Amino acid sequence: MPSVTVSAPGKLFLLGEHAVVYNGTCLVTAVDSRLWMTLTAEEATHNPTLTIIAPDVGLTNWSCLLKESFFRPAYQGPSAFIESCLAVFHRRYPFHANLTIETRSDFGANLGLGSSSATVAATLYGLSALFHADLSPDQLFTLGVEAIQNVQKLGSGADLAAAIYGGTLYYLNHFPRQITPLAVDSLPLLVVYSGEKAGTVSYVRKVAELEESWPNVISAVIETMFTIVDSGRECLLARDWVGLGQLMNIQHGLLHALGVDTPSLSEIVFAARNAGALGAKLSGAGGGDCAIVLVDDTHRSAVIDALANKKIVNVQANAAGVRLEKA
Ligand code: MEV
Repeated sequence: MPSVTVSAPGKLFLLGEHAVVYNGTCLVTAVDSRLWMTLTAEEATHNPTLTIIAPDVGLTNWSCLLKESFFRPAYQGPSAFIESCLAVFHRRYPFHANLTIETRSDFGANLGLGSSSATVAATLYGLSALFHADLSPDQLFTLGVEAIQNVQKLGSGADLAAAIYGGTLYYLNHFPRQITPLAVDSLPLLVVYSGEKAGTVSYVRKVAELEESWPNVISAVIETMFTIVDSGRECLLARDWVGLGQLMNIQHGLLHALGVDTPSLSEIVFAARNAGALGAKLSGAGGGDCAIVLVDDTHRSAVIDALANKKIVNVQANAAGVRLEKA
């Protein structure tokens, strides 16, 4: 019974979220909270089956015929990303086996740390290892974007890039997409959960609606975000934390202007800044999930004290991308 175990990291947006959807750029980093996945293939006579055991998303022993997964008119629910990956992979690399996929996540699906993109990266990498397809990171990325589009119909692919390549990336969402790893050894970040769960798709749509009502205004906001990303990249490479903190604060203001901030996220941002953080912003689609705080060693404990009523998420940035844990 061939079996492989793989893992893929979560992600955090440092700068450029939402703008990156508009053919833009962003800075995204992989975090060391990982999604773990074991894929096991068993010989099948006819009509192979798929079993998914993913308690983090409420699937305790979910199963169907594999061919149902290959041909769904729409991919929905907690099995959607895995099934969509199977369809995309099987079209290029047909296989005939009963498949069991078990997942466990260090971070849960609720924090907005990119459990969907980690699931896609892990599924495709695991299938590639299990069936000896030997896919390169670029091939994984191309298939992964297709798998995500089948489910969400939108998205920049930046979070998938973080899950596959790992590290800290400058990401250009313009054909041909460019994924540039940045030489960043450490990032003095604190990650703080807002207590609210956000839906990426609805917040991307919300911004698109605002853009339809006020195209000139919103395009100016988005263009400013592109400039923030480019300047942020320079600050990051120069370890100019004061500059990066200021840019994070400006990005948060612009995300607020796009209507994706919440009272709970802003509470974190202002409490952290008042306690001496260099910068603080929401990270990702908004509407909840996590805020990130850039803070030097001198002010770190004061900031943690100021956020005593919030949940600090213990993750480090710049983590490794998808990888084989056990063959
Ligand atoms: C969501 O994590 C980040 C967004 O920029 C959407 C995307 O990049 O696909 C809002």
